[in-house]
Amino acid sequence: MMKRVKKKRLVVLGSTGSIGCQTLDIVRAHADFFEIIAMSAHSNKELFAMQCKEFAPRHAVVTSESKNSRAELGMLAQLDEADCIVNAIVGVAGVMSTLAAVRAGKTLALANKESLVMAGELVMQLAHEHRARILPIDSEPSAIWQIVNGNMRDAAPTIERITLTASGGPFYGKLRDELRHVTPEQALAHPTWKMGAKISVDSATLMNKAFELIETRWLFNIPPEKLAVSIHRQSIVHALVHWTDGSVGAAMSPPDMRIPISQALFYPDRAVNPEIDMPRLDFSNLQLQFEAPDYSTFEAPKLAYEVMREGGILPAVFCMADEIAVQKFLRREIEFLDIVDEVKRTLDVTRNTPLSVEALNELFI
Ligand SMILES: NC(=O)c1ccc[n+]([C@@H]2O[C@H](COP(=O)([O-])OP(=O)(O)OC[C@H]3O[C@@H](n4cnc5c(N)ncnc54)[C@H](OP(=O)(O)O)[C@@H]3O)[C@@H](O)[C@H]2O)c1
Repeated sequence: MMKRVKKKRLVVLGSTGSIGCQTLDIVRAHADFFEIIAMSAHSNKELFAMQCKEFAPRHAVVTSESKNSRAELGMLAQLDEADCIVNAIVGVAGVMSTLAAVRAGKTLALANKESLVMAGELVMQLAHEHRARILPIDSEPSAIWQIVNGNMRDAAPTIERITLTASGGPFYGKLRDELRHVTPEQALAHPTWKMGAKISVDSATLMNKAFELIETRWLFNIPPEKLAVSIHRQSIVHALVHWTDGSVGAAMSPPDMRIPISQALFYPDRAVNPEIDMPRLDFSNLQLQFEAPDYSTFEAPKLAYEVMREGGILPAVFCMADEIAVQKFLRREIEFLDIVDEVKRTLDVTRNTPLSVEALNELFI
């Protein structure tokens, strides 16, 4: 395999999480290609200490111990010497790092979908102004990115529709009544993907798909009415692009997040992965099924269309309300069905205002 002359210098925000650890797996397997120059973690100090020992970053931040974590993360996201910032922080805590990275004109490998849900219009506008590049790590947007061959924004006029696939999560096929008393343990047991707690619960409510609709809307400049969801239990086809000439592009891979992560890290090249035992698809016996989602039980994607239509600060409120409700559910303070009900109630009482950094800051306080 060809050796890179100059290593790509990476900042990994959220290195102790599911995406963070898998990013480090790729780096570990391709030490000739990448160097970690900065990392952050929040609470998992033990794992972070081991990671720092192994990768020897020049800058390391534990945000739970920082007096001004936002400023410290912002500093890492804007490091002059960084070639790529990987934002693998979970939830609204990751949004300001995205804004910092795009303002500094960085290449941002973005797992933190909440950044685009809360502030998609602003993030894309700043990325355009500062010539920042956003490379999606989330598997569905990554699949679309592969299908449009890197043409993130220019392909829109020739796209008739984009279908995001969803596994349906652990409660696929269940009716509302059967979901009343499901436990956090059941909600966390995702059938195809191994992920952090918040995104696992979001997958169980289909809120994750709601977020991906908004994420796709902004990344690829596609209006909401051209976006659709299809349940695909196998999680092999991650997205479909329906072109205006009647053809359909699909991107497939085994459900393994190291694939979209490596696509973002190696971009514009592609990894040769002899060191990692990446799974492969076996087409000699592959069944692919697609079906319509049950929106009467899983209402979250319907709410995404509503907040996209309304715009302003509403998508940000949508995202924050979900995060708060998911935390309550994980602490067993509310039931599973209360998550989306609480989000709906919050949206109902919110007075919408235009999206701005100031409006976002007010939400964070
Ligand atoms: N996991 C997946 O397969 C997957 C797939 C697609 C997209 N994503 C997206 O990727 C992001 C990360 O997901 P994940 O599953 O990797 O989450 P995770 O396993 O929960 O990891 C989250 C990371 O963020 C850090 N963190 C938590 N709270 C923080 C705070 N207040 N300030 C700064 N850092 C904080 C955590 O640090 P500590 O662990 O040290 O506390 C950890 O490093 C999410 O936006 C998710 O939607 C994930």
